Amino acid sequence: MKATAIASPNIAIVKYWGKRDERLKLPMNDSISVTLDRSLYSETTVEFSKAFSADSMQLDGAEASEREMKNVALVLDCLRKKAKTGMNARIISRNNFPKSSGMASSASGYAALSAAAAAALNLQLDSRELSIAARLGSGSASRSVIGGFAWWKKGQDEDGSDSYAVQVADESHWKDFRIVTAVVSEEKKPVGSTDGMKLTLETSSLYRERLKKLPGTVSRVRQAILGRDAGQLFRLAMEESDSLHASMADTKPPLIYINESSREIMKRVNELNRENGMIAGYSFDAGPNAHIFTTEQNVNRVIHSIKGLAERIVASSPGKGAEVVA
Ligand code: PMV
Repeated sequence: MKATAIASPNIAIVKYWGKRDERLKLPMNDSISVTLDRSLYSETTVEFSKAFSADSMQLDGAEASEREMKNVALVLDCLRKKAKTGMNARIISRNNFPKSSGMASSASGYAALSAAAAAALNLQLDSRELSIAARLGSGSASRSVIGGFAWWKKGQDEDGSDSYAVQVADESHWKDFRIVTAVVSEEKKPVGSTDGMKLTLETSSLYRERLKKLPGTVSRVRQAILGRDAGQLFRLAMEESDSLHASMADTKPPLIYINESSREIMKRVNELNRENGMIAGYSFDAGPNAHIFTTEQNVNRVIHSIKGLAERIVASSPGKGAEVVA
Protein backbone atom coordinates (compact mmCIF):
# COMPACT_ATOMS: atom_id res chain seq x y z
CA MET A 1 0.00 0.00 0.00
CA LYS A 2 2.15 2.77 -1.35
CA ALA A 3 1.61 5.97 -3.35
CA THR A 4 3.46 9.16 -4.32
CA ALA A 5 1.99 12.63 -4.76
CA ILE A 6 3.30 16.09 -5.61
CA ALA A 7 2.03 19.56 -4.65
CA SER A 8 3.34 23.12 -4.94
CA PRO A 9 3.52 26.01 -2.46
CA ASN A 10 0.92 28.76 -2.45
CA ILE A 11 1.19 32.48 -1.74
CA ALA A 12 -1.70 34.12 0.10
CA ILE A 13 -3.22 37.31 -1.31
CA VAL A 14 -5.55 37.50 1.71
CA LYS A 15 -3.56 36.09 4.63
CA TYR A 16 -4.45 33.52 7.25
CA TRP A 17 -3.30 34.72 10.67
CA GLY A 18 -4.91 33.45 13.88
CA LYS A 19 -6.62 30.21 14.86
CA ARG A 20 -9.90 29.71 16.65
CA ASP A 21 -8.92 26.07 17.30
CA GLU A 22 -5.23 25.29 17.71
CA ARG A 23 -5.35 21.52 17.23
CA LEU A 24 -7.78 21.41 14.31
CA LYS A 25 -6.13 24.52 12.81
CA LEU A 26 -9.40 26.32 12.30
CA PRO A 27 -8.73 29.90 11.21
CA MET A 28 -10.20 33.18 12.42
CA ASN A 29 -10.69 34.36 8.84
CA ASP A 30 -11.10 33.24 5.22
CA SER A 31 -7.99 33.48 3.07
CA ILE A 32 -7.27 33.50 -0.68
CA SER A 33 -4.10 32.34 -2.40
CA VAL A 34 -2.50 31.43 -5.68
CA THR A 35 -0.87 28.01 -6.02
CA LEU A 36 2.51 28.12 -7.78
CA ASP A 37 3.51 26.09 -10.83
CA ARG A 38 5.61 22.94 -10.73
CA SER A 39 8.96 24.72 -10.89
CA LEU A 40 8.59 24.37 -7.09
CA TYR A 41 7.12 21.24 -5.57
CA SER A 42 7.19 18.74 -2.71
CA GLU A 43 7.13 15.05 -3.59
CA THR A 44 5.93 12.66 -0.91
CA THR A 45 5.77 8.87 -0.87
CA VAL A 46 3.66 7.15 1.77
CA GLU A 47 3.67 3.43 2.49
CA PHE A 48 1.38 1.77 5.01
CA SER A 49 2.28 -1.61 6.47
CA LYS A 50 1.39 -3.78 9.43
CA ALA A 51 5.12 -4.38 9.74
CA PHE A 52 5.85 -0.76 10.79
CA SER A 53 5.86 -0.32 14.57
CA ALA A 54 5.43 3.48 14.38
CA ASP A 55 4.97 6.30 11.87
CA SER A 56 8.23 7.67 10.53
CA MET A 57 9.15 10.45 8.13
CA GLN A 58 12.27 11.54 6.32
CA LEU A 59 12.22 15.11 5.11
CA ASP A 60 14.94 15.99 2.60
CA GLY A 61 17.00 13.12 3.97
CA ALA A 62 16.68 13.98 7.69
CA GLU A 63 14.34 12.54 10.32
CA ALA A 64 11.33 14.80 10.92
CA SER A 65 11.18 16.72 14.21
CA GLU A 66 8.80 15.87 17.04
CA ARG A 67 6.63 18.89 16.22
CA GLU A 68 6.41 17.84 12.58
CA MET A 69 5.53 14.25 13.54
CA LYS A 70 2.68 15.53 15.71
CA ASN A 71 1.14 17.35 12.75
CA VAL A 72 1.84 14.40 10.44
CA ALA A 73 -0.02 12.12 12.88
CA LEU A 74 -3.06 14.43 12.79
CA VAL A 75 -3.21 14.09 8.98
CA LEU A 76 -2.62 10.33 9.02
CA ASP A 77 -5.13 9.68 11.82
CA CYS A 78 -7.83 11.54 9.92
CA LEU A 79 -7.22 9.33 6.86
CA ARG A 80 -6.73 6.11 8.84
CA LYS A 81 -10.10 6.70 10.45
CA LYS A 82 -11.75 6.98 7.03
CA ALA A 83 -10.00 3.79 5.87
CA LYS A 84 -10.73 2.01 9.16
CA THR A 85 -7.13 0.92 9.63
CA GLY A 86 -4.51 1.28 12.34
CA MET A 87 -1.49 0.64 10.13
CA ASN A 88 1.56 2.85 10.57
CA ALA A 89 3.15 4.75 7.73
CA ARG A 90 6.63 5.29 6.37
CA ILE A 91 6.92 8.67 4.67
CA ILE A 92 9.65 9.98 2.44
CA SER A 93 9.29 13.60 1.43
CA ARG A 94 11.56 15.88 -0.53
CA ASN A 95 11.36 19.41 -1.83
CA ASN A 96 12.86 20.37 -5.18
CA PHE A 97 13.49 23.81 -3.69
CA PRO A 98 15.74 24.66 -0.75
CA LYS A 99 14.50 26.44 2.37
CA SER A 100 16.61 29.35 1.14
CA SER A 101 14.29 29.82 -1.85
CA GLY A 102 12.11 32.02 0.33
CA MET A 103 9.29 29.53 0.05
CA ALA A 104 7.83 27.65 2.99
CA SER A 105 7.55 23.93 2.28
CA SER A 106 4.86 23.11 4.85
CA ALA A 107 1.91 23.94 2.57
CA SER A 108 3.15 21.89 -0.38
CA GLY A 109 4.49 19.17 1.92
CA TYR A 110 1.25 18.53 3.81
CA ALA A 111 -0.84 18.79 0.63
CA ALA A 112 1.36 16.13 -1.03
CA LEU A 113 1.28 14.02 2.14
CA SER A 114 -2.52 14.04 2.28
CA ALA A 115 -2.92 13.11 -1.39
CA ALA A 116 -0.29 10.34 -1.19
CA ALA A 117 -1.61 8.86 2.06
CA ALA A 118 -5.21 8.86 0.79
CA ALA A 119 -4.14 7.11 -2.42
CA ALA A 120 -2.01 4.57 -0.51
CA LEU A 121 -5.08 3.72 1.58
CA ASN A 122 -7.22 3.40 -1.57
CA LEU A 123 -9.50 6.20 -0.41
CA GLN A 124 -11.39 8.04 -3.14
CA LEU A 125 -11.58 11.50 -1.58
CA ASP A 126 -12.96 14.69 -3.07
CA SER A 127 -11.00 17.95 -2.85
CA ARG A 128 -12.95 19.01 0.24
CA GLU A 129 -11.86 15.96 2.23
CA LEU A 130 -8.28 16.25 1.01
CA SER A 131 -8.16 19.94 1.86
CA ILE A 132 -9.40 19.19 5.39
CA ALA A 133 -6.77 16.47 5.87
CA ALA A 134 -4.00 18.80 4.64
CA ARG A 135 -5.28 21.60 6.92
CA LEU A 136 -4.65 19.39 9.96
CA GLY A 137 -0.93 19.34 9.05
CA SER A 138 -0.62 23.07 8.41
CA GLY A 139 -3.43 25.57 7.86
CA SER A 140 -2.08 27.01 4.62
CA ALA A 141 -1.71 23.46 3.18
CA SER A 142 -5.50 23.32 2.80
CA ARG A 143 -5.03 25.72 -0.15
CA SER A 144 -2.16 23.85 -1.90
CA VAL A 145 -4.52 20.91 -2.55
CA ILE A 146 -6.34 23.24 -4.98
CA GLY A 147 -4.86 24.51 -8.27
CA GLY A 148 -5.01 28.10 -9.53
CA PHE A 149 -6.64 30.52 -7.08
CA ALA A 150 -7.91 28.97 -3.84
CA TRP A 151 -10.30 30.30 -1.21
CA TRP A 152 -10.04 28.72 2.24
CA LYS A 153 -13.35 29.26 3.99
CA LYS A 154 -12.94 29.49 7.72
CA GLY A 155 -16.19 27.62 8.38
CA GLN A 156 -18.20 27.60 11.58
CA ASP A 157 -18.49 23.98 12.68
CA GLU A 158 -16.56 22.98 15.77
CA ASP A 159 -15.24 19.81 14.17
CA GLY A 160 -13.81 21.72 11.18
CA SER A 161 -15.90 19.87 8.60
CA ASP A 162 -16.75 23.13 6.81
CA SER A 163 -13.25 24.65 6.95
CA TYR A 164 -11.58 23.81 3.62
CA ALA A 165 -10.39 25.40 0.39
CA VAL A 166 -12.37 25.69 -2.83
CA GLN A 167 -11.24 26.87 -6.25
CA VAL A 168 -11.97 30.46 -7.29
CA ALA A 169 -10.45 29.97 -10.76
CA ASP A 170 -8.14 27.33 -12.18
CA GLU A 171 -4.51 27.75 -13.26
CA SER A 172 -5.41 28.58 -16.86
CA HIS A 173 -7.84 31.38 -15.93
CA TRP A 174 -5.22 34.14 -15.72
CA LYS A 175 -2.36 32.95 -17.90
CA ASP A 176 -0.13 36.03 -17.65
CA PHE A 177 -0.38 36.35 -13.84
CA ARG A 178 3.06 36.08 -12.20
CA ILE A 179 4.46 35.86 -8.69
CA VAL A 180 7.99 37.24 -8.29
CA THR A 181 9.64 36.05 -5.06
CA ALA A 182 12.58 38.09 -3.82
CA VAL A 183 14.71 36.40 -1.18
CA VAL A 184 16.20 39.09 1.01
CA SER A 185 17.25 36.98 3.97
CA GLU A 186 17.88 33.35 4.74
CA GLU A 187 17.84 33.87 8.49
CA LYS A 188 15.41 31.76 10.46
CA LYS A 189 12.39 33.77 11.62
CA PRO A 190 12.56 34.82 15.30
CA VAL A 191 8.99 33.68 16.10
CA GLY A 192 7.33 30.90 14.08
CA SER A 193 3.88 31.51 12.58
CA THR A 194 2.09 29.19 15.07
CA ASP A 195 3.35 31.11 18.12
CA GLY A 196 3.24 34.47 16.38
CA MET A 197 -0.40 34.29 15.33
CA LYS A 198 -1.43 33.16 18.82
CA LEU A 199 0.28 36.19 20.35
CA THR A 200 -1.33 38.60 17.86
CA LEU A 201 -4.76 37.14 18.55
CA GLU A 202 -4.28 37.56 22.29
CA THR A 203 -2.77 41.04 22.41
CA SER A 204 -3.47 43.19 19.34
CA SER A 205 -6.49 45.48 19.16
CA LEU A 206 -5.64 46.39 15.57
CA TYR A 207 -6.05 42.69 14.77
CA ARG A 208 -9.68 42.85 15.88
CA GLU A 209 -10.23 45.76 13.48
CA ARG A 210 -8.53 43.74 10.74
CA LEU A 211 -10.93 40.83 11.27
CA LYS A 212 -13.93 43.12 10.79
CA LYS A 213 -12.54 44.38 7.50
CA LEU A 214 -11.55 41.02 6.02
CA PRO A 215 -14.89 39.69 4.70
CA GLY A 216 -15.11 42.76 2.42
CA THR A 217 -11.52 42.27 1.28
CA VAL A 218 -12.12 38.59 0.50
CA SER A 219 -15.10 39.45 -1.63
CA ARG A 220 -13.24 42.21 -3.52
CA VAL A 221 -10.19 39.98 -4.11
CA ARG A 222 -12.42 37.21 -5.50
CA GLN A 223 -14.06 39.68 -7.87
CA ALA A 224 -10.66 41.00 -8.99
CA ILE A 225 -9.45 37.44 -9.71
CA LEU A 226 -12.62 36.51 -11.61
CA GLY A 227 -12.48 39.75 -13.63
CA ARG A 228 -8.69 39.56 -14.10
CA ASP A 229 -8.55 43.09 -12.74
CA ALA A 230 -4.79 43.34 -12.20
CA GLY A 231 -4.68 46.91 -10.87
CA GLN A 232 -7.40 46.26 -8.31
CA LEU A 233 -5.84 42.95 -7.21
CA PHE A 234 -2.37 44.47 -6.72
CA ARG A 235 -3.84 47.37 -4.71
CA LEU A 236 -5.84 45.00 -2.48
CA ALA A 237 -2.86 42.65 -2.00
CA MET A 238 -0.66 45.49 -0.73
CA GLU A 239 -3.36 46.86 1.56
CA GLU A 240 -3.89 43.39 2.96
CA SER A 241 -0.19 42.73 3.56
CA ASP A 242 0.18 46.16 5.20
CA SER A 243 -2.82 45.43 7.44
CA LEU A 244 -1.35 42.08 8.53
CA HIS A 245 2.03 43.61 9.33
CA ALA A 246 0.40 46.46 11.23
CA SER A 247 -1.33 43.88 13.46
CA MET A 248 1.95 42.05 13.88
CA ALA A 249 3.67 45.28 14.93
CA ASP A 250 0.76 45.97 17.33
CA THR A 251 1.33 42.58 19.05
CA LYS A 252 2.78 42.69 22.57
CA PRO A 253 5.75 42.34 22.37
CA PRO A 254 5.81 43.52 18.72
CA LEU A 255 6.37 41.00 15.95
CA ILE A 256 8.55 42.51 13.27
CA TYR A 257 9.05 40.08 10.41
CA ILE A 258 9.98 42.53 7.66
CA ASN A 259 13.37 44.24 7.53
CA GLU A 260 15.09 47.23 5.90
CA SER A 261 15.30 45.48 2.50
CA SER A 262 11.59 44.55 2.65
CA ARG A 263 10.69 48.19 3.30
CA GLU A 264 12.90 49.32 0.43
CA ILE A 265 11.11 46.82 -1.86
CA MET A 266 7.74 48.26 -0.78
CA LYS A 267 9.02 51.73 -1.68
CA ARG A 268 10.32 50.61 -5.07
CA VAL A 269 7.05 48.86 -5.96
CA ASN A 270 5.12 51.99 -5.01
CA GLU A 271 7.44 54.08 -7.19
CA LEU A 272 7.01 51.64 -10.06
CA ASN A 273 3.24 51.97 -9.75
CA ARG A 274 3.40 55.74 -9.57
CA GLU A 275 5.38 55.86 -12.81
CA ASN A 276 3.55 53.15 -14.77
CA GLY A 277 0.06 52.77 -13.30
CA MET A 278 -0.74 49.80 -11.05
CA ILE A 279 1.52 47.08 -12.47
CA ALA A 280 2.61 45.24 -9.32
CA GLY A 281 1.61 44.49 -5.72
CA TYR A 282 3.88 43.29 -2.92
CA SER A 283 2.92 40.82 -0.22
CA PHE A 284 4.85 39.65 2.87
CA ASP A 285 4.22 36.59 5.05
CA ALA A 286 5.83 35.93 8.43
CA GLY A 287 9.27 36.84 7.11
CA PRO A 288 11.22 39.52 5.20
CA ASN A 289 11.04 37.93 1.73
CA ALA A 290 8.81 39.68 -0.80
CA HIS A 291 6.23 38.08 -3.07
CA ILE A 292 5.34 40.52 -5.80
CA PHE A 293 2.24 39.90 -7.89
CA THR A 294 2.46 41.23 -11.43
CA THR A 295 1.80 40.21 -15.03
CA GLU A 296 4.14 38.59 -17.55
CA GLN A 297 4.78 41.78 -19.50
CA ASN A 298 6.01 43.56 -16.38
CA VAL A 299 8.13 40.82 -14.76
CA ASN A 300 11.43 42.22 -16.06
CA ARG A 301 10.54 45.72 -14.99
CA VAL A 302 9.69 44.49 -11.49
CA ILE A 303 12.91 42.48 -11.25
CA HIS A 304 14.95 45.43 -12.50
CA SER A 305 13.36 47.76 -9.94
CA ILE A 306 14.44 45.62 -6.97
CA LYS A 307 17.89 44.64 -8.27
CA GLY A 308 20.51 44.74 -5.56
CA LEU A 309 17.97 44.26 -2.77
CA ALA A 310 17.50 40.51 -3.12
CA GLU A 311 19.89 37.57 -2.94
CA ARG A 312 17.73 35.57 -5.30
CA ILE A 313 14.67 36.24 -7.43
CA VAL A 314 12.27 33.58 -8.75
CA ALA A 315 9.25 34.18 -11.00
CA SER A 316 6.35 31.68 -10.97
CA SER A 317 2.97 31.26 -12.67
CA PRO A 318 -0.27 29.87 -11.25
CA GLY A 319 -0.07 26.09 -11.12
CA LYS A 320 -1.91 22.86 -10.40
CA GLY A 321 -3.14 21.42 -7.12
CA ALA A 322 -1.97 18.20 -5.50
CA GLU A 323 -1.65 15.19 -7.82
CA VAL A 324 -0.98 11.51 -7.30
CA VAL A 325 1.89 10.54 -9.61
CA ALA A 326 2.64 6.92 -8.66
O1 PMV B 1 -0.06 27.36 7.78
P1 PMV B 1 1.03 28.12 8.39
O2 PMV B 1 1.21 27.86 9.83
O3 PMV B 1 2.34 27.95 7.63
O4 PMV B 1 0.67 29.70 8.33
C1 PMV B 1 0.97 30.52 7.27
C2 PMV B 1 0.58 31.92 7.51
C3 PMV B 1 1.03 32.91 6.47
O5 PMV B 1 1.94 32.35 5.55
C4 PMV B 1 1.73 34.06 7.15
C5 PMV B 1 -0.18 33.47 5.71
C6 PMV B 1 -0.86 32.54 4.74
O6 PMV B 1 -2.08 32.64 4.64
O7 PMV B 1 -0.19 31.73 4.09
